[in-house]
Order: sequence, then C-alpha cells, then structure tokens
Amino acid sequence: MPLPQRIAIDGPAASGKSTLAQRLAETLGYLYFDTGVLYRAVTWAALQRGDAVEDADALTDLAANLPIDVRPPSKADGRKYDVWVGKHDVTWAIRSPEVDRWVSIVAAHPGVRQALIEKQREIGRRGRVVMVGRDIGTVVMPDADLKIYLDASAEERARRRYEERRARGEHVSYERILAAVQARDRLDAQRTVAPLRAADDAVVIQTDDLDAAQVFGRVLALIEDADC
Ligand code: DC
Repeated sequence: MPLPQRIAIDGPAASGKSTLAQRLAETLGYLYFDTGVLYRAVTWAALQRGDAVEDADALTDLAANLPIDVRPPSKADGRKYDVWVGKHDVTWAIRSPEVDRWVSIVAAHPGVRQALIEKQREIGRRGRVVMVGRDIGTVVMPDADLKIYLDASAEERARRRYEERRARGEHVSYERILAAVQARDRLDAQRTVAPLRAADDAVVIQTDDLDAAQVFGRVLALIEDADC
C-alpha cells in the first residue's frame, strides 16, 4: 500500500507538533516544513521596520514581498533548518519573546495569511512532506493524505515549555508561560480567518498522558495503515 505523501499536523502551541513532525520526516525521508516560521519571519521584519503589527495593509504588503527562505541547516547549533529573510539569518531571532508576543496578531490578518498560503501550497504540491501549522488540514492542504491534530491542556503545554526553557538555563516563571500560552490559544482559535480547529477528517490525539515516543508510535501505526 502506498504511504501517505502529504501529512498535515495541526494543533495549539507546544502540543508536540514539531517533535512529532521532525521524527516522522526523518523516518520517512520526507521534507519537514514548519509553517509557523513564515508568520514569525513577517513579524520579525515588521518589528525591524517599526511597522505597527495592527496595520493590516502594511503587514499584508510586507508578507507579499518579503524574501523568506527556508533551507537545510548551515550550522550545528541545534537548528533543524535555516530561516533567512533576504541577507539575514533569522533562525533564532524569530524565536525571541518579542516575536512570540506579537506573532498571533500578525497571523490574524487575512491579507497576511493569503500572501503566505501560496508558498505553503507550492511546497505541499511537491509531495513527500510533513507540514506543521494551525490550518494545514483545514485550509492549506485540505486534500492531505493524512491529517493529525495534536492537543493537550494549556497547563501541560505550559509545563513542557517551562521545562524546555529551564533546561536551556533560562530563568522563567511557569505562571507567566501559562498566561502566554492561554493568550495565544485565544488569539489563534478566535480569529475569523482560518481559526485553529481540527479538520473533520483529522485524527485527534490527546497528548497529556503520552510522551513523544508514544505519540510517534501511534502516528507511525496510522501511516502504515493509511489507505491512500
Ligand atoms: O507554531 P508557531 O508557534 O511557530 O506559530 C507561530 C504563530 O503563527 C502562532 O500564533 C500561530 C500562527 N500560525 C498560523 O496561524 N498558521 C500556521 N499554519 C502556522 C502558524
């Protein structure tokens, strides 16, 4: 039986999407594409230019014209890929607390989403891809061969982020991380265009009581059983 060529993985922040997708892509020899980097790169560029993140016209224009490139990793500093905006390597800059803070507002502009969607679809059409985001199964690749929606409670997701950041030596407060996770959930789920939700034909996996290896095992079994 042929394996699913296009796999969509959606879910809220810190639900384990990236870990799962990276492992699947590695195992299957597929491209791993984390679509959040596009929204993050636009947010980074807007902050650099001093554009107001609420300015829909300026942000739409920026998204439509920004030379964003995602390439194989050029450095062994923990990165899984490079993200470039023109001549700037923004791989780590797009993960800053400042970008974290504003990216949901940028991603809520319909014009920004429209500008970035074609880039995502073009990569999807090539096949052999594991694409991660919020609206991959519902909007970007509604005809994906396999759709997974990973979920977990806000408390569990905040705990994971907290542990990750503590392990990197950062001094962080669990309460503040939880508040940030909840704020992003609200913005991502309540926006009018492409809100975060599981596609009707997605397999929903609750990961509160599962570790990364268990989630991977379940999805691999689904892939092996998939009828496409
Ligand atoms: O997955 P992430 O944390 O890098 O996503 C950053 C933001 O971009 C988040 O607010 C949700 C948004 N996003 C989106 O709206 N659609 C996607 N396909 C991917 C991310």
